[in-house]
Amino acid sequence: MVAATVYISRETVGGEPRVACSPETVKKMKALGLDVVVETGAGTLSRIPDGEYEKLGARIGSATDVKTADVVLKVRRPAPKEIKAYKSGAIVIAIMDPYGNEKAIAEMASAGLSTFAMELMPRITRAQSMDVLSSQANLAGYQAVIDAASVYDRAMPMMMTAAGTVPAAKVFVMGAGVAGLQAIATARRLGAVVSATDVRPAAKEQVASLGGKFIAVEDDEFKAAETAAGYAKPMSAEYQAKQAALVAEHIAKQDIVISTALIPGRPAPRLVTRNMLKAMKPGSVAVDLAIERGGNIEGAVADQVADVEGVRVIAYANVPGRIAASASLLYAKNLVTFLETLISKETKELTINLDDELVKATMLTHGGRVVHPNFGGAVPAAVKEG
Ligand code: NAI
Repeated sequence: MVAATVYISRETVGGEPRVACSPETVKKMKALGLDVVVETGAGTLSRIPDGEYEKLGARIGSATDVKTADVVLKVRRPAPKEIKAYKSGAIVIAIMDPYGNEKAIAEMASAGLSTFAMELMPRITRAQSMDVLSSQANLAGYQAVIDAASVYDRAMPMMMTAAGTVPAAKVFVMGAGVAGLQAIATARRLGAVVSATDVRPAAKEQVASLGGKFIAVEDDEFKAAETAAGYAKPMSAEYQAKQAALVAEHIAKQDIVISTALIPGRPAPRLVTRNMLKAMKPGSVAVDLAIERGGNIEGAVADQVADVEGVRVIAYANVPGRIAASASLLYAKNLVTFLETLISKETKELTINLDDELVKATMLTHGGRVVHPNFGGAVPAAVKEG
């Protein structure tokens, strides 16, 4: 049996309502032989009372219990004052938001923590059930449409009534990755007429299969815009100009725009200008799902519904947190699936296998050092050999 204690914190930063474990994952961790301590109130904002965890074998603890934990599961990177309470050598797994936060990573290294960034999980078949970007983006795509519908003061579906016909809303989704595809599906379920754009050719068929119309500049650059990892490349200035002309013409006829476009490790591409918003009809709505990385829409303000040229531009920073009760269940499952890979099948002990490609991709700090090459780390010997 694993003689290790897993501690689940109450999130302290930015009013984060999600939690890093669910009753189902407590059960799973207990079955793996782990002791589970959940900080009191950790699940409250995700609608999971302490009692639900207790029923499945977790102990409800207070913040001081983290001192003895071998593993800390979190939603967000721990704040410096939280780190002080952790045991040196503890494993910490969270969404670490490492880019631009090298100082905070170095502090976790100095504290002797072995830290893992879930958002760096490779997108390979084995790790699909650990992919937090997908699990959270999927819900964010859904929530973006619900947020848009809630401020849109017209109906989404076409309604033919004795008093006349209400036309269907026209929804344009920009960026057809995980969030965008779910936004297309959700808008279609609500009866909207949906179109979408992307720079990756693979998106064309996916948009069509969900009943959306694909709109894009399909030149030679577009045909080569997908990286081997399945992500978009930054596009040339020439392509951007052609794309902007096409988008400007199309947006003027839309009621709702949902933008989700991202390029890994870079600021979000600016796709919608003030002038494009100005051309939209009165009462139009835009949702910027890329706001945490600078936003796709000019004039979007984080955590506000801003009036930009007569369009209500919604730009919540933590959209998965707006659907926390669902997001937490999926996130917790992603975490426990990864945690299971850190338990040796032979010894049943917590073991970090430095040769495992999941460890190589996600481990930020270990043995008192920053080890991830993207953040100035020297690769540990065992990883080099692998
Ligand atoms: P993302 O969150 O990095 O970006 C969102 C979307 O924005 C992408 O579709 C991207 O092509 C698009 N985009 C970037 N620049 C743009 C521009 N200038 N104009 C219009 N659109 C632009 O992407 P996400 O959602 O993480 O998905 C990326 C790819 O990875 C997709 O093909 C997805 O299906 C794939 N994927 C594969 C998985 C696996 O194999 N396990 C798991 C999840 C996703």
